[in-house]
Amino acid sequence: MGQSDNIMKCSAKLKYPEVRVEKSNYNYGLILLDDLASPISEVTAVMQYLNHAYTISDGKTGGLMECIAKSEMIHFEILSELIRKLGVTPVYANFCGSCGTYWNASYVYYGYDTKDRIDNDIQGEKAAIAQYKRHIDMIDDKYVKENLERIIKDEECHIALLTEAGK
Ligand SMILES: [Fe+2]
Repeated sequence: MGQSDNIMKCSAKLKYPEVRVEKSNYNYGLILLDDLASPISEVTAVMQYLNHAYTISDGKTGGLMECIAKSEMIHFEILSELIRKLGVTPVYANFCGSCGTYWNASYVYYGYDTKDRIDNDIQGEKAAIAQYKRHIDMIDDKYVKENLERIIKDEECHIALLTEAGK
């Protein structure tokens, strides 16, 4: 995915590090599957933001949600590549939180009005940051760590954008 201006609009204004790993590590790959496709994950974020973008009647907020979804897709791509380089197939399932559960659409919070959706999206970003921080502590690979730290910068940017939109 190209880092075009449009896609970068809802991301932190920082370069992304090279997507690489020190060495293959199956357990680290499994940990990252949770960031890819558990309830708190990039797949959930992309699907939730797109759902909110296409159901919110306020066009400006809907546009913001779609823009953030594209930023989450960058994370989706980075995680998929990290997981593959760690030696795991990036399936849409999580193996750490709950053994071998495939991603499903009940992970999406659908919401009932614009404010409720924005509030839940902010909570989701906070939960994602907390999970990335836990995983940074668990993973002893400097390249994986720097990629997760960069992703956190985008999630913080999303919180700022959503907080502004919710005012
Ligand atoms: Fe993300």
